Amino acid sequence: MSQQRCALIPATLIPGDGVGPEIVDATLFVLEALRAPFEWDHQTAGLAGVRDHGDPLPPPALESIRRTQLALKGPLETPSGGGFRSSNVRLREEFELFANVRPARTIVLGGRYDDVDLVVVRENLEGLYIGHEHYVAIDDDPHAVAMATGINTRHGCRRVLEYAFDYAVANGRKKVTIVHKANILKALTGLFLETGSELHERKYKGQVELETLIVDACAMKLVLNPWQFDVVVTTNLFGDVLSDLVAGLVGGLGMAPGANLGKKAAIFEAVHGTAPDIAGQGRANPVALMLAAAMMLEHVGLPDLALRLRLAINDTLNVDKVRTRDLGGRASTAEFARAVSLRV
Ligand code: NAI
Repeated sequence: MSQQRCALIPATLIPGDGVGPEIVDATLFVLEALRAPFEWDHQTAGLAGVRDHGDPLPPPALESIRRTQLALKGPLETPSGGGFRSSNVRLREEFELFANVRPARTIVLGGRYDDVDLVVVRENLEGLYIGHEHYVAIDDDPHAVAMATGINTRHGCRRVLEYAFDYAVANGRKKVTIVHKANILKALTGLFLETGSELHERKYKGQVELETLIVDACAMKLVLNPWQFDVVVTTNLFGDVLSDLVAGLVGGLGMAPGANLGKKAAIFEAVHGTAPDIAGQGRANPVALMLAAAMMLEHVGLPDLALRLRLAINDTLNVDKVRTRDLGGRASTAEFARAVSLRV
């Protein structure tokens, strides 16, 4: 075992809400079998944070991530409409996690689309997602009008676009598609398009091809022919929607990992939410979080362990044919984890 492997890497672990603790347990089980050298600092957030500390994003969890600059987390529940502000959005803001990287790769063959291999890079801090909203009352209706403000900055656009181009070059990707709606939201998403086009012209021309697409056309093309895409980079809200769409191309949310990256920290998670409809039943597919753990291993410079984990997941699904119900199988979350652990 190399010296690098022996040194423990401090990392924050947040089980999250709903199916979170189930998929986190499954992922930890597999990481232990892999002897991944993480030294976990267990923290709570979301509803569990409210229960333990009266805060969906408790100071000890923030302090832990500030120290480790690295976290693996389960999904956190955010009530729709009223209630507290999304802990996920607050985490992204707190640690300036400006890039949300969501790879979609076919693992289970014979599904809707074979050989899909693309990456959605979503701007994570700006746009309509900032949640600057208010109602205007008219007569006796306090919610007569609802208004939202979106904000994109040149700086914010540039850093995520630069990340996407650099990612494409570093990973041998051929094309970056900038997705926008500059025909209608001419300023808000026009700035993203303008900044990306200038950046490509100045810095990346000849290294990687540039394509620009309006978001509605992009959604259609992704469904008709996902193989034409390589790296897709877009603003926050469009990225949120398109990354769920591409998860659907490769077997659903149970298969889609994500990384939130910034200068101050990196937080790895599944794209999906708390799945309240199946929480507590041992049915959740832990693959998305396991793949997020593989991204985390790559991030800390352990690509060999990441590869072993990816191969073990692949063989469990395709050779052993052990699958959770969302993939048409019968395995429980824990049974799937045991099967993967035998393969790592
Ligand atoms: P969801 O992603 O939790 O569920 C959507 C559908 O996908 C459900 O039918 C669910 O059963 C299924 N699903 C999700 N993950 C699965 C898995 N691992 N295995 C099998 N099936 C799975 O989305 P929903 O219901 O809109 O959101 C529920 C809660 O999660 C909300 O409070 C939302 O704010 C939160 N959320 C949190 C996220 C995060 O912490 N990163 C991301 C998305 C939503």
